[in-house]
Amino acid sequence: MPPARADLIRRPTSAGPAGPPPRMDALEALYGRQSVGVHRPDPVPRDVIEALLAAASQAPDHYHERPWRFVVFTGEGRRKLGQAIADSTHRCYPEVPAPALAAERAKPLKSPLAIAVGQAPPQHEHLQEIESICAVACAVQNLLIAAHAFGLASHWKNGADGDPEFKRAIGLRPAQRLIALVYLGYPLAPLPIPPRPGFADRTTWVE
Ligand SMILES: Cc1cc2nc3c(=O)[nH]c(=O)nc-3n(C[C@H](O)[C@H](O)[C@H](O)COP(=O)(O)O)c2cc1C
Repeated sequence: MPPARADLIRRPTSAGPAGPPPRMDALEALYGRQSVGVHRPDPVPRDVIEALLAAASQAPDHYHERPWRFVVFTGEGRRKLGQAIADSTHRCYPEVPAPALAAERAKPLKSPLAIAVGQAPPQHEHLQEIESICAVACAVQNLLIAAHAFGLASHWKNGADGDPEFKRAIGLRPAQRLIALVYLGYPLAPLPIPPRPGFADRTTWVE
């Protein structure tokens, strides 16, 4: 019998304080993950959020610099993210009217949880930026898969990586790249596995 989900979440392991995510077949999780941007308002428990961050941190990482940086927005903290998005939109597109800015400000309040994922510049002289960005993208994918295993829906969105003020406002440093703004919450309804194209037209076999 696999351990109960709560035991898996709380058991201290090297995966992090919250332990590994609940058991779900790896391929089932990969196939079932999909972008879902409409979420129930129920908060995501802190230990589940920590388990997602622990899962993200299992990503492959050349030179072990752990280049991922997470900023977690919940509750009233989401207003800070919304204000930063509206301010950035106004800076970059001054023509955007006030009602549209208000809509931007309110966007993070539609999900109970948002996680900004940044990438710290490489420190090792032989580590290339592309490797570091790839490691962070792997961390984001881990986070999405783990979220799916916890019954959460998620949506990876980009953010104003080109706006240093925005990154500062959300708790990253201007020199760090913004790789993802992930919005998460429990889905309104169970999610069937989505149909996706296969790989044949994107694959060359060399035999
Ligand atoms: C690097 C990256 C950036 C993305 N940015 C956005 C975005 O800004 N807005 C959005 O609606 N979706 C964004 N997405 C989500 C994709 O649109 C989504 O993954 C795609 O439609 C495929 O759907 P699926 O995730 O359900 O397979 C992003 C995905 C990636 C990998």
